[in-house]
Amino acid sequence: MTEAREKVLLLYSTCDGQTRAITEAVAEHLAGAFPVDVVDIVDFNPAELPAYRAVFIGAGLRYGMFNKRVKRFTRRHAAALNAVPSAFAGVCLIARKPHKRSVVTNVYLRKFFRDHPWHPQILTGVAGALLYPRYTWYDRLAIRLIMTITGGETDTTKEIVYTDWEQVRQIAREFQELVEKNTRGLTG
Ligand SMILES: Cc1cc2nc3c(=O)[nH]c(=O)nc-3n(C[C@H](O)[C@H](O)[C@H](O)COP(=O)(O)O)c2cc1C
Repeated sequence: MTEAREKVLLLYSTCDGQTRAITEAVAEHLAGAFPVDVVDIVDFNPAELPAYRAVFIGAGLRYGMFNKRVKRFTRRHAAALNAVPSAFAGVCLIARKPHKRSVVTNVYLRKFFRDHPWHPQILTGVAGALLYPRYTWYDRLAIRLIMTITGGETDTTKEIVYTDWEQVRQIAREFQELVEKNTRGLTG
């Protein structure tokens, strides 16, 4: 007999697509071990949550904020998320610096999880993409300013993917271990 909660859910929120690519890379790794569903948080029906044995959420950042939908979803469904192994990857540019990936050192993660009722076991920043030519003139100007302040790329003709794919594989490995450890004996 197969336990009902056999699938792992991977939700993402993205504007420019990098968080989807990161979430899909995690899903691809996990798919070797479990059935997975990868869903844009916009399209996800929370009534489906009890069908999953674990939840990963990837969220892209804009102007210091993760999408409101991610905030609403994780607050409203914190109890359900806490009941299973869970992970959060916050995708932003300051995480291109490895020492800015923890909830202590990454200001966006710190703010998001301050007094938050959800407590994912894996909580990390992941570097996103810098896509100057695709931004509006206003966004290009603003991001260039952020990059100037933080010592990053300021050539607005460039597109750079800062994502450390080895870090992403490591997150996937740790998450797989966590899911296996916490739900051992539930299936089969
Ligand atoms: C309009 C805009 C605002 C951004 N603001 C920030 C920011 O405040 N801090 C930061 O580290 N990265 C910032 N970024 C970088 C994004 O987090 C990065 O591009 C990431 O890949 C976005 O995720 P997505 O590709 O899934 O949309 C910003 C990017 C854009 C386009």
